[in-house]
Amino acid sequence: MRVSVFGLGYVGSVSAACFAEDGHEVVGVDVAAAKVQSLNEGRSPIVEKGLDELIRGNTANGRLRATTSTAEMMKYASNTWHALKVTFANEICNVCKRVGIDSHEVMNIFCKDEKLNLSSYYMKPGFAFGGSCLPKDVRALQYRAKEVDLEMPVIQSILHSNQLQIQHAIDEIVETGKKRIGLLGFSFKAGTDDLRESPIVILAEALLGKGHALRIYDRNVSIARLVGANKDYINTQIPHLSSLLCETIDEVVDNSDVIVVGNAAPEFSDALKRTRPDQLIVDLVRVKTDRTEIPAQYQGICW
Ligand SMILES: NC(=O)c1ccc[n+]([C@@H]2O[C@H](COP(=O)([O-])OP(=O)(O)OC[C@H]3O[C@@H](n4cnc5c(N)ncnc54)[C@H](O)[C@@H]3O)[C@@H](O)[C@H]2O)c1
Repeated sequence: MRVSVFGLGYVGSVSAACFAEDGHEVVGVDVAAAKVQSLNEGRSPIVEKGLDELIRGNTANGRLRATTSTAEMMKYASNTWHALKVTFANEICNVCKRVGIDSHEVMNIFCKDEKLNLSSYYMKPGFAFGGSCLPKDVRALQYRAKEVDLEMPVIQSILHSNQLQIQHAIDEIVETGKKRIGLLGFSFKAGTDDLRESPIVILAEALLGKGHALRIYDRNVSIARLVGANKDYINTQIPHLSSLLCETIDEVVDNSDVIVVGNAAPEFSDALKRTRPDQLIVDLVRVKTDRTEIPAQYQGICW
């Protein structure tokens, strides 16, 4: 097994050494650089009979090592997530009680979904959420809570936080001082022409409003502009944006100073390899590509 041990004091250093001695691959993490250094040099950071030998042997055979990196933030992130889960469950369940639903039954069913509810899905930092489900249902729940006169401070702050993430992306782009902006991806996620509550649409409108020249590429939206259920919406509700849609990725890439990756369509990875060193990529989705193969400068929205 690969094991991480947080804290290399009396408990952690003994545990880490014993796990490694039992054949596991162990990384010890501590905020104290001296303890990390000591362990990496094969010396025990604490006095404990027999521990020096265990640590010496297992650092030499490569099964045990230590690091300071991410230790503090990992602990903060983990415990804040736990606190958020408690608060979220309580806020949902207070509403349940008011409307006569068994809250534990709701949470039991909720926890059975290990694909979306309890999983790494949605835990990829990047741009704001959008689409036809999440914003609508967050608003619907807030409305239901209001009807029964209940406050949900955490849930009520979700949409505001999401808006701030859109503003954060706008600021990052505006602060570059460049005027020709290319957007790769227009719908809220790859593989759809759905523009309902797409945060990229809001971002595009803000950039236009600030006088930037925009070029947009999204294969699905371009097709939907001609056929499909979305045709009317694209042509009548957002003609100021749909007229900026380009037919090829290269038309956007070649003519932009800043290239914004707005969704994770697989075709964007290759397109970024055709950029120039004088261009800047602002990545909102952490596109899957080898960054050493991208000639342009690169910055992620939150990494
Ligand atoms: N010592 C025991 O017999 C014993 C028994 C049961 C439980 N515990 C519990 O185990 C825990 C550790 O006890 P200990 O005696 O090893 O303490 P310790 O003080 O010897 O070690 C704690 C280590 O954690 C490190 N640390 C602090 N904040 C950190 C962070 N954010 N990320 C990574 N490392 C961090 C410290 O630098 C220190 O090296 C405590 O919560 C204690 O209550 C201890």
